[in-house]
Amino acid sequence: ELGFDGAINYRTEDPGPQLDKLAPKGFDLFFENTGGPIQNLIFERMNAHGRVVVCGMIADYNKAKPSPGPNWIPIIKKRLTIQGFTMPDHFAEVPSLLAKLTPYVMAGQIKHRAHVLEGLESAIEGLNLFFTGENKGKLIVKL
Ligand SMILES: NC(=O)c1ccc[n+]([C@@H]2O[C@H](COP(=O)([O-])OP(=O)(O)OC[C@H]3O[C@@H](n4cnc5c(N)ncnc54)[C@H](OP(=O)(O)O)[C@@H]3O)[C@@H](O)[C@H]2O)c1
Repeated sequence: ELGFDGAINYRTEDPGPQLDKLAPKGFDLFFENTGGPIQNLIFERMNAHGRVVVCGMIADYNKAKPSPGPNWIPIIKKRLTIQGFTMPDHFAEVPSLLAKLTPYVMAGQIKHRAHVLEGLESAIEGLNLFFTGENKGKLIVKL
């Protein structure tokens, strides 16, 4: 339905063999948005001159001790570029982003699903859904 070439269920599948099957030539670009065990599995499959964008670490936010980061030696050997990403740096680009993406959404080429909770009083429930994964779609608390 969403048009991805492949997907892995991190809760039920062994990601290593699935990554090898879906990306047999390795990875040129890794948009890191979860952290957790899959991070190293992707990192060790990065191609030379690959890029890693570090945006989110949802698997780590509740841990008393964050997971150790990847070893730096492969960064040298593979000449990787790793850069942190935060949305506020790009607020000024929101209008041009919307101008580009809205036609795709209108044409049904990008599909969007929202899980909307009503009212500020549901914000705690919303935060818990964020960590249990029970939300079906982008989690929004409507004020
Ligand atoms: N850098 C920035 O400016 C910025 C801004 C906003 C968000 N973020 C980050 O972006 C990420 C996604 O945020 P969102 O607002 O899109 O959240 P979201 O809509 O709630 O989606 C969270 C996703 O992470 C998955 N997930 C949860 N725990 C995981 C784990 N241990 N391993 C693998 N996947 C896991 C969930 O899958 P299930 O539902 O199956 O558990 C769900 O698909 C978060 O890491 C967040 O901190 C960064």
